[in-house]
Amino acid sequence: MTIKAVVFDAYGTLYDVQSVADVTEDAFPGYGELITQVWRIKQLEYSWLRSLMGRYQDFAVVTRDALVYTLRSLGLQYDEPTFARIIDKYQHLALYPDALSMFEALKDRKLAILSNGSPDMLNALVRNTGLERVLDATISVDAKKVFKPDPAAYALIEKVLHTPPAEVLFISSNPWDVCGAKAFGLNVAWIERVTPEAMALACVESETVAPLTMFKTLRTQMDELGVHPDHRIHALSELPALVSARS
Ligand code: LAC
Repeated sequence: MTIKAVVFDAYGTLYDVQSVADVTEDAFPGYGELITQVWRIKQLEYSWLRSLMGRYQDFAVVTRDALVYTLRSLGLQYDEPTFARIIDKYQHLALYPDALSMFEALKDRKLAILSNGSPDMLNALVRNTGLERVLDATISVDAKKVFKPDPAAYALIEKVLHTPPAEVLFISSNPWDVCGAKAFGLNVAWIERVTPEAMALACVESETVAPLTMFKTLRTQMDELGVHPDHRIHALSELPALVSARS
């Protein structure tokens, strides 16, 4: 089946969530990496728990609440300006370096984001990284008041793009999101940014397990959820060849 639309997860796939580490380290020297990892883990955990509890709040609330938890659990005192400076970084995450050239190579397809991010969060990110001129749509799950991997979130793609799942290739680096999209019925490519070999190396390099290594163990290796991606790539730059081969 020809791929008519390529749809991207945002955080971790197009944008590097590790790029908050400079702000967290600047605010709390020596804690930057730990804050960055615990924050992302709790942010996702809260999105899943709020969906399961039927207590949806948008991703801006979830992201703030996860940061409150992280700083409190580490016993770190903070003032509002410091907190606001860290949160603001989520509107200025680094776009992966191969993203713009990849979008250029795919411009004859419908291109969109489907993300847990709130509309305001995503629109700011898209604007700040110049993607508004390359994307046909920026789809926030907020329209359904439930987070990925709930099937209702992925159903937004057909509603907005008028493209059936069989003609959509969904891209994510987040294994749980890959499994959710595959379970829903999309064609899925997983961006495996941390290979098992790199994972094994990270684990033997030092006696203690660095917070980033712990994060990689928890969030970058394919999950055991009974579904598997159709494609496994290592960078956005591999997508144009993959999409052409599917046409
Ligand atoms: C997103 C994050 C949660 O939906 O990966 O963009």
